[in-house]
Order: sequence, then structure tokens, then C-alpha cells
Amino acid sequence: MSGAGAAAGDRAAFVGFFPQIVRDLTAELGHPEVGDAVARLKEVLEYNAPGGKNNRGLTVLAAFRELAGPERRDAESLRCAMAVGWCVELLQAFFLVADDIMDSSLTRRGQLCWYKKEGVGLDAVNDAFLLESSVYRLLKKYCGERPYYLHLLELFLQTSYQTELGQALDLITAPVSQVDLNRFSEQRYKAIVKYKTAFYSFYLPVAAAMYMVQDDYLDCFGDPELTGKVGTDIQDNKCSWLVVECLRRVTPEQRQILEENYGCKEPEKVAKVKELYETLGMRAVFQEYEENSYQHLQELIKKHANRLPKEIFLGLAQKIYKRQK
Ligand code: IPE
Ligand code: MN
Ligand code: MN
Repeated sequence: MSGAGAAAGDRAAFVGFFPQIVRDLTAELGHPEVGDAVARLKEVLEYNAPGGKNNRGLTVLAAFRELAGPERRDAESLRCAMAVGWCVELLQAFFLVADDIMDSSLTRRGQLCWYKKEGVGLDAVNDAFLLESSVYRLLKKYCGERPYYLHLLELFLQTSYQTELGQALDLITAPVSQVDLNRFSEQRYKAIVKYKTAFYSFYLPVAAAMYMVQDDYLDCFGDPELTGKVGTDIQDNKCSWLVVECLRRVTPEQRQILEENYGCKEPEKVAKVKELYETLGMRAVFQEYEENSYQHLQELIKKHANRLPKEIFLGLAQKIYKRQK
């Protein structure tokens, strides 16, 4: 199914998930002394996070669907993808609340800018920080136990830095009441938009979805010297991409091997599972899948991203495809 076909239902599900996000972020059990601050956080979230087009958040969901394939679209994985989608939206809300102060803007998404609201003013600076923290609290809550958690964390941190560089470039190129047209050039313009919007808008959502899909393979076949960790999906009885694909290919006898050895900590049993993976050629299966999804992604980029900065996607593909860690 194409991303567009799923989009309408996705949007409703994504927007419908927001109240849950607010509950997750404001369920401050056992800290009544900060109750007022948590109530403020709720107000900040509800004013600043919804109301946009949600394109970035929906991209996480759509990219996850495209990349994961039908068998990985279980409810739990989709909830995770939705939460990561909201993380992108919250990161954007954080930047926008601050951006509106710096740009002295009046309205945003058809309503007053948050800092322009009666009684808010520069307290909005701290509210922006609260939105930023919310990103990382959500990531931990939904993905903290997942193998790709550190990748996601670094991705959000790196993207934030790039956006902040872009904002800095934007601001220093436009000093208040000091018009100097010599500062304006196409090169400078391109650098500003690339850094202040393109990374978090285009790169972040797709890269996040890719990390969420790819780690299953590296958990089993990755070289611990490169990944820096010894995978435990087999021992932990995880519903990983590999076991799902393996199950589609097994004979009844091979299924029995899996039955007896999956989800056990004994090294001999883990080895039996890996042996079965090798027998079924799961490395090649993954490589083919990676190749195909890469082609598919290329087509999607060509089709939908004509006017988007292509080098961002190319950089992304280069960085993530065929990665070994
Ligand atoms: C906003 O840039 C960029 C970020 C939120 C990082 P602009 O200042 O150019 O965009 P608008 O016009 O306020 O949305
Ligand atoms: Mn602005
Ligand atoms: Mn700005």
C-alpha cells in the first residue's frame, strides 16, 4: 500500500493519540509539590503542540509503515512510531515557541503566539524548555527498552544542534535595524533554510523510522566490536523482524527448533536459533529487503521530494544503509 493511501487514517489516529501523550507527560504520581508546574506543562502542551499539519509526525508513521513491512505493523510498534512522531512535533513546538519570541511574531497556527498570551510573556522561555524535555521523556517512556533507543536519542540531539545552528545563522544574518544587503546571498540563504528547517523537517522523521526498523538485524548479525553491544533479542523472546521473517520460511520441523530454543538464555539454544537463521539464509533475506526498501525509498524521494533538498536524503541513505553499527 502506498503511503498516501494510509494517510487519512493515519492522521486521525495520530491526532487521536495526542491526549494519551499529554497523559503520559503529566501523570506525575507521587510529586504533589510540583502539581502546579505539571498543570502548566499540560497547558503548554495543549496550546502549542496540536494545531499544525502534523506532516513531520505523520512522516515518521508513514516511513515506519513503508520500511517495516506488513508483519511489523503490530499495534505496539505502531504506538511506538506514533509516540516518536509526536516527539518530532514536540521538538518543533519547542523551536517555534522560542522562534516566535526571537522574531517578535504575533500569531502562529491561527492563534496568538504563546508568549503573546496574557500573563505568559518571557516565561515562555521556560515553557519552550519544558517542551524540549518532553521529547526526551516520551522517547524514554516509549522506546527506552528498545535496542534503537540510543540511536534515536542521538538523532534528536544532533538534529536539535543543526536546527540551532540554522537559527543562529538566521538571526546573525538579520541584526535588528542594521540593514546590510551585502550579507544576503543565495549561498547564505540556502545554508539558513537547510539548517533551520530541513534537518528537523525532512531528515529527522525518516531517519527515526529507519532506526526503528533496522536494529533487529544488527541485534543478531551485527559485530559487537562495531555495534558496541551484544544483541539479546533471541534470548529475550523479542518479536523481531528476523524471527517474523524466519517464521514465514520454516518447515514444521524447523518451526519446532524455534519452538524449543527461542527465548532461552542458554548459549547453546541461542546458537541453535542462529544456525536456523543461517540455514534459511536470513542474512541474504535482510540484504535483499534492505536493497528493495532502499530502491523504494529512492522512488518515494523522487516522486514526492522534487523540491526538497535532495542531498539531505542522500546523506541519510549513505549514513544508514549498510551501516554496521
Ligand atoms: C522557524 O523558522 C524555524 C524553526 C522553528 C526552527 P522561521 O522563523 O523562518 O519560520 P516561521 O515563519 O516563524 O514559521
Ligand atoms: Mn519565525
Ligand atoms: Mn525565525
